[in-house]
Amino acid sequence: MSRRVILRVVGILLAVAIILDAAFVACFIVAGKYESSITVDKDSRVLSSDEGVRILVLSDLQGSNYIELSWAFAAAKETVRRAKPDLILTTGDNFGNDVSLRHLDAFVRFMDSFGLPWGVVFGNHDYNPSFTMEEYCEALEESENGIFYSLPIDGSYSNYSYRLRIGGEDVFSLIFMDNADSAFTENHTAWYEETVKAGVGEDGSYLPSFVFFHRPLNESVVAAEEYARDGGIGSGLIVDEVRSEGGSSGLFDKAVELGSTRAMFYGHDHRNSAHISYRGIDLCYSLKTGITVYFKLGSLGGVVIDVDEGGVYEIGRIYI
Ligand SMILES: [Fe+2]
Repeated sequence: MSRRVILRVVGILLAVAIILDAAFVACFIVAGKYESSITVDKDSRVLSSDEGVRILVLSDLQGSNYIELSWAFAAAKETVRRAKPDLILTTGDNFGNDVSLRHLDAFVRFMDSFGLPWGVVFGNHDYNPSFTMEEYCEALEESENGIFYSLPIDGSYSNYSYRLRIGGEDVFSLIFMDNADSAFTENHTAWYEETVKAGVGEDGSYLPSFVFFHRPLNESVVAAEEYARDGGIGSGLIVDEVRSEGGSSGLFDKAVELGSTRAMFYGHDHRNSAHISYRGIDLCYSLKTGITVYFKLGSLGGVVIDVDEGGVYEIGRIYI
């Protein structure tokens, strides 16, 4: 093959790649603008609103290539359109495996394009990219609307927290933790305790809190067994085995002891949607959002948490 033909083939391939990339951006990355009542103070780690807020929790978008990303983004867009949240969070597996910096860039641009504050934790698949975790964190930290920052604990990166302030009063701590690559350690539990104790309400008691991470705890298994056996207090389905590789390392016992955490949210088991009250804490599966890997039709979407003045809250689901 002559040099001229090779150059021509390369040129055509490049042009096709550019056109496909532009089409991907036009069709999937630009999500459409929404309004949030929340203002973000990243320096003091406070999310403020003059009125009640709606938090939308997405999970397991889990695209490993542009085609899967486009399906995941389309599902996320529809969930956001229906939920109309003030804040978007994920409980991990934002990607599948082996994604590149270009996929990361697409994800950040996509999440920013809602015009809403957003935050993530990492899932086990987020620990298998073709870039470093430092590059992953940096891209999230430099995003336009992202609230993510990283406090590394024992090789895990998505540990951070914010105070939610409504009508000038601190009403909740939002605690983001990382048990994606290995189970929680004593250092995670110590950081959790320190974070809870740093949030004190006007009456001197610890602020109520929500905790977000990726993999269920050992206690999630017991709670699911009780739920299946006795009905228990809860709602939703346990379809998949509850995979508790997330462990606990005393985190759950500490949460019960401190009395701050009202609910823990996690994903990982794509077809489970159960919210189960266990020892005073709601153990809540996020809904899988991305139409990727394996999923249950009719059980895709996101979990919504409505928080009002005075810390009154309600947890619900948005199906797509
Ligand atoms: Fe996972």
